[in-house]
Amino acid sequence: MIRDLEIRSITKDDLEKVIELDNASFPEPWSKSLWNVELSRNQRIYLGAFQKKELVGFIGGLLAHTDFHITTVATKESIRNLGVGSVILFEMLHQILGLSAEVDSITLEVRSSNKPAQALYRKFGFAPVGLRRAYYQDNDEDAIIMSLENLQSANLQDRLAKIRKRFPLINFVGVQ
Ligand SMILES: CC(C)(COP(=O)(O)OP(=O)(O)OC[C@H]1O[C@@H](n2cnc3c(N)ncnc32)[C@H](O)[C@@H]1OP(=O)(O)O)[C@@H](O)C(=O)NCCC(=O)NCCS
Repeated sequence: MIRDLEIRSITKDDLEKVIELDNASFPEPWSKSLWNVELSRNQRIYLGAFQKKELVGFIGGLLAHTDFHITTVATKESIRNLGVGSVILFEMLHQILGLSAEVDSITLEVRSSNKPAQALYRKFGFAPVGLRRAYYQDNDEDAIIMSLENLQSANLQDRLAKIRKRFPLINFVGVQ
């Protein structure tokens, strides 16, 4: 069980911590200038999971017409598989659903070898909808495109409620 976790929006004040976690999590982390631009743009949501002020996870994405595209998600390696990824994805979905009734899908790309991430997305109802061949430049790996649709369905609400119940102690931003 993860304790003392606070989920809130990340801002430029968190930039150094975000870059540190990004560098530790991805073979192709974003540059400081890209993070700076992303954190100041409209139509974005960036959330961080903080444990006693330490950033232990983040997630981000952008709204493009009726699709919300999740562009990044990572958690601190030493506490993976303890629920932080689920908590930040839960809060992200909650915020996306509150953005606009026009949003009708949430998509993302994931490396074909990245089974933990795929399992996380499947747990929330994401399903594979396509493939981008040799999408990742560091090793020419394919990306699986995964999508979550039927955002207003009772099925999704049930799924989210069950996931929420697993984390009763978490201080979510937008959820009572
Ligand atoms: C993907 C990632 C964000 C998951 O974060 P996490 O904090 O481990 O997530 P959780 O603990 O909530 O685990 C969520 C689900 O993922 C699956 N999972 C997590 N670790 C796993 C592992 N080592 N093997 C298989 N499945 C795993 C499980 O289904 C788990 O759900 P469950 O606990 O209900 O069984 C994390 O592994 C990470 O940061 N990886 C490096 C960056 C990355 O690959 N990001 C994704 C880019 S698309």
